[in-house]
Amino acid sequence: MKDSNFLKENNAKFIWHPMGHPGQLRNNTPAIITGASGVRISDIDGHETIDAVGGLWNVNLGYSCQPVKDAISAQLDDLPYYSAFAGTTNNAAIELSYELHDWFADEGMGRAFFTSGGSDSVETSLRLARQYHKIRGEAGRTKFLSLKKGYHGTHMGGASINGNNRFRIAYEPLLPGCFHIPAPYTYRNPFNESDPAKLADLCLQALEDEINFQGAETIAAFVMEPVLGAGGIIPPHESFMPKVWEICTRNGILLIADEVITGFGRTGQWSGSRLWGVQPDMMCTAKAITNGYFPFGALMISEAIAQVFENDTSGSASIGHGYTYSAHPVGAAAALACLAETKRLNVVENAAERGTQLMNGVVKLMQKHAMVGDVRGGYGLMTALELVSDRQAKTPVDKSIAGQVAKVAYDNGVMVRVSGHNILMSPPLIISEQDVAGIISGLDAGLTAAG
Ligand SMILES: Cc1ncc(COP(=O)(O)O)c(C=O)c1O
Repeated sequence: MKDSNFLKENNAKFIWHPMGHPGQLRNNTPAIITGASGVRISDIDGHETIDAVGGLWNVNLGYSCQPVKDAISAQLDDLPYYSAFAGTTNNAAIELSYELHDWFADEGMGRAFFTSGGSDSVETSLRLARQYHKIRGEAGRTKFLSLKKGYHGTHMGGASINGNNRFRIAYEPLLPGCFHIPAPYTYRNPFNESDPAKLADLCLQALEDEINFQGAETIAAFVMEPVLGAGGIIPPHESFMPKVWEICTRNGILLIADEVITGFGRTGQWSGSRLWGVQPDMMCTAKAITNGYFPFGALMISEAIAQVFENDTSGSASIGHGYTYSAHPVGAAAALACLAETKRLNVVENAAERGTQLMNGVVKLMQKHAMVGDVRGGYGLMTALELVSDRQAKTPVDKSIAGQVAKVAYDNGVMVRVSGHNILMSPPLIISEQDVAGIISGLDAGLTAAG
């Protein structure tokens, strides 16, 4: 390993980072994270912080989850890789598919299609949605609907249903036939409606209106995150997703739940769909399925959809899609160990309790700091602060101000994530009461310094 002078000198010189400007990052270099333990990370200078980001919404069990590390190591010894393209499989993938079938029984999921991450899971869902309709003789159903503010990864399909133009404009034209409806985002919406239930109804009316306009018979699927994550942590009113489900079912449109963040306990429920009492047609999962220790994902497919594919005798259900690393044995072994630990620790309980503590903490920060225009969360460990320079006008703060809040919080022992003018937090689900208090005081310091 090269010394720290070498690493600092060459930081961002020969690497382009996701979601950053490659030129600006050469001067304003990223923090070099060199170690992690429990819920803490440490940088190249030995500065240690609580990781309120949880890696990237994925390190639910923290950084010291030995059973997952052991499972990865053992699987590397037994079988480090083999293809799962039709003709061969592996024991870890078979076992994991059985486990996931059980895990998502309440949501009615019957099959898994393994991927290398969230964007892959979303892409797979879009493809299989179109194929499903073709198998059933409704080849005209090719369009996709989704929510503004939604985030569905960065593959061409996922970016096309993405509801944030930061991830779209530079890459347009995207996939034709993708349309967006307003998000149930009470702080800012085109209806000027702040009541969550009324806003949910208005968004649902917009959804019905779009379906009528496009023609239901042209729409393959509606895709949504049960709690919107990267778009600013936006939990919809509890009526929203059940009504979306009803509208989709009535119109023959598949409901795809993007559970890449909300799967496996983050909301204080085992999935976002279960939180809202919904059985979607497909669920995109990734991230916490391996605690972030191995890039892996699973698209879950409902029993009903599976029947249509499996009962096809024409050959049109043959899947012409997949990844070299689909059903990777090391990823599958990591996921098996991760799910066993997730279950053993019953992380949903702590996620719910600590989530309430974090939410109450940021509500108090909002009372203290005029810069906090809105706080969102209340469902497990997904919490956001929206920063404004003028509360009345809701003027977003400059990105540099949000950066300053995060920098001072970091100096005070807390890593938070800046997304535009939002501060997003999604710490490991095993976090303690004391460490949540530490997050709140680090943020307090950041807001005081930037205020
Ligand atoms: C809801 C959602 N879907 C999809 C993705 C894409 O996942 P990945 O970055 O693993 O490709 C993300 C990533 O944050 C996400 O939050």
